[in-house]
Amino acid sequence: MKALRHKILWMVVILTTINLNSQGQANTNERALWFTDARFGMFIHWGVYSGAEGIWKGEKLRNDNDYAEWIYYRNRIAREEYTTLLDRFDWEHIDPEQWVLLAKKAGMKYVTITAKHHDGFALWDSQVSDYDVAEFTNPKRDIIKELSEACAKHGLKLGLYYSHWVDWEHPDGWDHSKEIYGITAEDYDRYWQGKVIPQMRELLTNYGEIGIMWFDMWIHHSRTCVTKEQLLQLKGVIRELQPNCLVNSRLGLSIEEDSDIDFKTLGDNQLGSKKEEFPWQSPATVAHSWGFHALEKQWKSSTTLLQSLIGNVSLNGNMMLNIGPRANGDVPYEIEQRLLAMGNWLSVNGESIYGSQAFDLVKDQHDWGKITCKQNADGTTRLYLHVYNWPLSHKLPVTGIREKLVKAYLLASPETTLSFSGKGVVTELDLPAEAPDPLVSVVVLEYASYPTIEDGLVAQSVYGGFSFTPKNALKSEGNMQIQAPGRRGTVPAHIRVTEKSSYQWRIYMNKAMTVYCDVSYAFEGKEDSGKITAKSESAKLSDTFQNTGRFVGEPNSNWQIESFNAHRLGQLEFSEPGYYDITLEFKPEKDEELSFQWLWLETK
Ligand code: GLC
Repeated sequence: MKALRHKILWMVVILTTINLNSQGQANTNERALWFTDARFGMFIHWGVYSGAEGIWKGEKLRNDNDYAEWIYYRNRIAREEYTTLLDRFDWEHIDPEQWVLLAKKAGMKYVTITAKHHDGFALWDSQVSDYDVAEFTNPKRDIIKELSEACAKHGLKLGLYYSHWVDWEHPDGWDHSKEIYGITAEDYDRYWQGKVIPQMRELLTNYGEIGIMWFDMWIHHSRTCVTKEQLLQLKGVIRELQPNCLVNSRLGLSIEEDSDIDFKTLGDNQLGSKKEEFPWQSPATVAHSWGFHALEKQWKSSTTLLQSLIGNVSLNGNMMLNIGPRANGDVPYEIEQRLLAMGNWLSVNGESIYGSQAFDLVKDQHDWGKITCKQNADGTTRLYLHVYNWPLSHKLPVTGIREKLVKAYLLASPETTLSFSGKGVVTELDLPAEAPDPLVSVVVLEYASYPTIEDGLVAQSVYGGFSFTPKNALKSEGNMQIQAPGRRGTVPAHIRVTEKSSYQWRIYMNKAMTVYCDVSYAFEGKEDSGKITAKSESAKLSDTFQNTGRFVGEPNSNWQIESFNAHRLGQLEFSEPGYYDITLEFKPEKDEELSFQWLWLETK
């Protein structure tokens, strides 16, 4: 009876897993489905600060975080003088439709603009405050109206960034100096009821459908002057006026505490690190600053930006990439070029991004790139292998999928089918010599149903071997505390072994073979003391600890570090294809310490 109950329980667990897989992101509100399909959006930081370009009266922006949109606060500019920056704007030339057209060419599906940033200046014709664009233009401009019309015309969703917590121009708004001078709850509520709530009503009433209200309080409300009641009031206004509008977690309420929050916003330029079942997004810049900064230098490459987007989608995430147009409305060349390159790529490979999701293999399991997945209504499923580094061997190993592969081809040329050989849970694809795309190439795998996976395996490396580290071990005994890389990475991540310790990994060998087995460690103790043993089911290799000594990182800088050297333990034989457990054991002598880095099985 007990056994039967156990069996039923397992069946329920398995069925639920299959069901979850086919449903995709389980914790997505209905209204956010377009957002998880869209995956890629444009962020626009544009306002009075764009006229300063990160410099005020000859002085560079204070504070090394170099966010040009903070110049009002950082360089202590007076409220009235700040708006003189608007004299530099070329109103004839400024055309928000151009930004929307660029977003479209870049393959972005939504646009979020700073309707009101921390400076408190409104980019629309606000009846609530005359610290707005209409007050300073002749004829009066309403940038939000122009942008909303352009978005509607070109089929993009519109998002509005609204700085609710921080407002530097309003006497009762929050600026960080109030930590010194204080503000009463009553005064702050005057700002809230007098500016935030009525401006929110304007934005949600006069500009058509708003896809996203994007707030920017990057710490939890309990650590700010804003109360939970005020936040709920604000959210209530949105739900009342535009029930389909999405709200992000920087409202100050986390998605975990309020499931009515539609998506989580990660930190600035923070990319995903794990798969989530709820919608999430990284706000990202092409260089560093959000508002245009004349001294910007750190431009990321198109490939880097594309890989950030792909990496996020492979974990069920979105990316919103920022442009900081100049005061004449122009988008900086360096930004435009990268966006166009991404758009070109997406026009060929977009199928692997839009409406695609995470696939449940272990994160970073394959060293050639990232996988996204799409299941069709008839159950057939495509996996998109994003190959970051086209293998010199022209062979691509895919580990962990049990399902029979129906077809493999290049997304850039679906008529180019690829031959493959499969054994157990390893498929080896034959690639053409030339990568189809100079940025990232995509290989499609087609399955008749959602593929079942074999979890916990160490994948075959594209470099012909298996790389075993403390991080990808399945089991261990003894110390598992990983020491982070030190001395600028010249000391690699490792584990200090002072007592008997062992680590175990699981692999699938797709053919019988004999492989070399190398272990990398640092040891400065007694030569030939201790014992290392590497084991598979059929064989065992042993060695004593060898002293690896020290070496110098840079001359004349007191930079002497322990040397991590690879030692060949010998050869292990695998007489037939199948699953194998690989164990590595260290037995140090009393008071001796070894630093273990990795084990490598060379399959070539
Ligand atoms: C931060 C900054 C802000 C920028 C935003 C973008 O919160 O204060 O200037 O708008 O991040 O994510």
